[in-house]
Amino acid sequence: MPVNLDAVQRKSGIIGESEAIREVLQTIAQIATTDITVLVTGESGTGKEMAAKAIHQHSRRKFEPLITVNCGAIPAGIIESELFGHKKGSFTGAEDTRKGYFEAADKGSIFLDEIGETPLETQVKLLRVIETGEFMRVGDNVTRRVDVRVIAATNRNLGVETRNNNFRQDLYYRLKTVTIRLPALREHISDIPVLVERFGLEFATRNDLIFKGFTPEAMRLLKAYDWPGNVRELKNLVESVLALNSGIRITPEILAEQIQMGNFARNQALPVPVDKPPEQADRELVLRQLLYIRQDISDLRQVVAGGGLLPQAVDPYLPSPVPEVGGAGGVIGYTRDISAIEERPLIDPEAIGEITIEELEKEYIRESLARFNHNRRRTAEALGIAERTLYRKIQTYGLEKR
Ligand SMILES: Nc1ncnc2c1ncn2[C@@H]1O[C@H](COP(=O)(O)OP(=O)(O)OP(=O)(O)O)[C@@H](O)[C@H]1O
Ligand SMILES: [Mg+2]
Repeated sequence: MPVNLDAVQRKSGIIGESEAIREVLQTIAQIATTDITVLVTGESGTGKEMAAKAIHQHSRRKFEPLITVNCGAIPAGIIESELFGHKKGSFTGAEDTRKGYFEAADKGSIFLDEIGETPLETQVKLLRVIETGEFMRVGDNVTRRVDVRVIAATNRNLGVETRNNNFRQDLYYRLKTVTIRLPALREHISDIPVLVERFGLEFATRNDLIFKGFTPEAMRLLKAYDWPGNVRELKNLVESVLALNSGIRITPEILAEQIQMGNFARNQALPVPVDKPPEQADRELVLRQLLYIRQDISDLRQVVAGGGLLPQAVDPYLPSPVPEVGGAGGVIGYTRDISAIEERPLIDPEAIGEITIEELEKEYIRESLARFNHNRRRTAEALGIAERTLYRKIQTYGLEKR
């Protein structure tokens, strides 16, 4: 009998009210009580492990063990003995007969995380145990039998891996019958406020801090960012911001400080809030980053030339520096007014005459490649040029992936 969706949500701790998350919860509720094999997919940090645990918690096996195996972390040479056990003396170092994870999980469930990383030879044995419950310990010739429910997860595209012969097709078909796809955070940004609130409150309670929430502008910034690290990244951000700012309402300025402290990757900085198509916003973001670098350099030049002081705060979201009243010589303070960003010209007049189109293009392509993980198709798309053109420019500028 299917379980109640709200009960799944409460017990599993999976937060979200969006359609995408409701769908995930719905599928978990429907299949939890069956013994069917489940494949959980999704990018890193989307909650695959949470989903796997939720399935077990709501199954008839909930009082039996859930054994988690990170297939990607076990060296290929010992993975079979870890999964299926081994007989004494079956290889050097096998001093005792040992049970494997499948036997440990008997009557319960096994969570095979990163299943895409298992060697092809092991995949045959996995298929057998999934289909028949049968397996043999390494070095043994006795067929054993277990009653285990298999939940597998991967952040790879197993369809592609299968086509490239890195993953067995029969195992793939067997696993994918029920697939639960965890959405990337950028696909359910409407959940960001509720996620932030829950992470903030939980962290504050655990650490005796006070959480006063984020301002609407700060929330807008969070929604504009593309979250390559998904919910995990958001959780880390909320916690590190809160640890340093207990009792204060979180503003975009505080978020910007966090970025400078390196708690948040600078090259993936939160974009400024703009009501523009994502590609255009991306492009402008990169150009802005370039201009900040140039500004930093020109500030440094001033210092070296004895002409002035470094700014007190180099805020990546701020428009051109505004000298403080009474500031002597150099740039000594920035006004913190985020609303000015939208009016800021894309090209800082200061930079004109200092940067050539070629330099700009090279930097822009370099940043874009990094952003799209050197995926040429996506980079070319974002740049609005043909993949062949991109290829040529990569050669010209020497931007090949090292
Ligand atoms: N919808 C969600 N609600 C609450 N917390 C979430 C949600 N999604 C992810 N998290 C949190 O994010 C972190 C990562 O989740 P989890 O380990 O399940 O992700 P994953 O998909 O298995 O990631 P990886 O591929 O890197 O192993 C955990 O701290 C988890 O609590
Ligand atoms: Mg995981």
